Amino acid sequence: MKMKKMMVYLWWVVLLLVLPFSSAGSGISSTSSSVSQQTLGVQKHLNQLNKPAVKSIKSPDGDIIDCIHVAHQPAFDHPSMTNHTIQMRPSYHPERLNFGESKVSSSKSKRVTQLWHTKGRCPEGTIPVRRTKQEDILRASSIKSYGKKKQKSFPQPRSADPDLLSQSGHQHAIVYVEGDKFYGAKATINVWEPKIQQPNEFSLSQIWILGGAFGQDLNSIEAGWQVSPDLYGDNNTRLFTYWTSDAYQATGCYNLLCSGFIQINNEIAMGATIYPVSGFHASQYDINILVWKDPKEGNWWMQFGDDYVLGYWPAFLFSYLSDSASMIEWGGEVVNSESEGQHTSTQMGSGHFPGEGFGKASYFRNIQTVDGSNNLRPPKDIGTYTEQPDCYDVKTGKTGDWGNYFYYGGPGKNPKCP
Ligand SMILES: *[C@@H]1O[C@H](CO)[C@@H](O)[C@H](O)[C@H]1NC(C)=O
Ligand SMILES: *[C@@H]1O[C@H](CO)[C@@H](O)[C@H](O)[C@H]1NC(C)=O
Repeated sequence: MKMKKMMVYLWWVVLLLVLPFSSAGSGISSTSSSVSQQTLGVQKHLNQLNKPAVKSIKSPDGDIIDCIHVAHQPAFDHPSMTNHTIQMRPSYHPERLNFGESKVSSSKSKRVTQLWHTKGRCPEGTIPVRRTKQEDILRASSIKSYGKKKQKSFPQPRSADPDLLSQSGHQHAIVYVEGDKFYGAKATINVWEPKIQQPNEFSLSQIWILGGAFGQDLNSIEAGWQVSPDLYGDNNTRLFTYWTSDAYQATGCYNLLCSGFIQINNEIAMGATIYPVSGFHASQYDINILVWKDPKEGNWWMQFGDDYVLGYWPAFLFSYLSDSASMIEWGGEVVNSESEGQHTSTQMGSGHFPGEGFGKASYFRNIQTVDGSNNLRPPKDIGTYTEQPDCYDVKTGKTGDWGNYFYYGGPGKNPKCP
């Protein structure tokens, strides 16, 4: 016992002596433990992700929002970005004529915003970036997988084979259109905070802009809100985006966690908590999300709310989507890890079934697509898709005010979904 303690002590002396001299990159050779190598790897990745901040804001939810100079954002780490000229505004906007002449960010209703706004704002010329902490990366199964979707899964309505799909553990309740060329999509999405049973599960509500067949080279742009304890370390509802150009394999990531999305907006942080959220039988809150393809430059732009043009995915990231999208989907997705052989009780939407209606079930309203002339259109020939309607379901409708809408979601585990 005593001997062992002594050895440990000696080991530390050796480490302390060796470390200062080996920090120049020579490494500590074979004596370094895998733990310290992991720490070095994590630190290196953090340095890569977290750029020097002009200003930092501590959000009440524990996040640190760094205001990064717009030219220093992660997107520009990519070698193919070296000659990219940042676009500070889209050349066209599906909802506004003469968009180039109007100011990008006017101040209309900004009721639903982000929690960190209560503690400060980022100056012009910077963008707010949620700082990645060491524990964020340590929760991921590996440094490489941090910020990426773990399983290859996408709602694939055309070849709906429940046995095949449930293997991946992902469950969906969605509405979709296909069989045309799409240049964007819009929706007003009800915001809730669904309960997550296991930390490695998530629940999200989003728009999918899809290009290509559902093969190894599927292109996808995704935006909406999510609750993901593994990704963020809490149960808060957060604004998120995702992109991939190879069906979630080597390319793409959430938010700004890799080189891809170029942000121009200094008010909204990707991955930050959305505030407030809706309550059962209480106030309802929703967010507008619009994604559209700039017909001139070819980039895919994203707008949050009525005013916040957040930025864009450069056209060169994609293959199919560099032309147009072949399918649009709207709706919810959860991971069902089936711990203890039972269906997860992770909720989708509000955790209530569509039949319960307004104030109880979660909705998407005014769902629209962008056509080849850059106009918003109501979707034609809407399809719906869900793997297990007794766990999570979807129900569409149409009214004057709400246009094409649907309620979706459910509680997961219940007597009919054991
Ligand atoms: C950037 O432009 C320079 C000069 O035109 C060229 O030599 C270089 O190859 C370009 N880099 C990329 C990644 O396109
Ligand atoms: C998240 O919610 C689960 C239950 O739904 C709870 O067990 C867990 O402690 C919560 N995590 C945090 C960080 O609040």
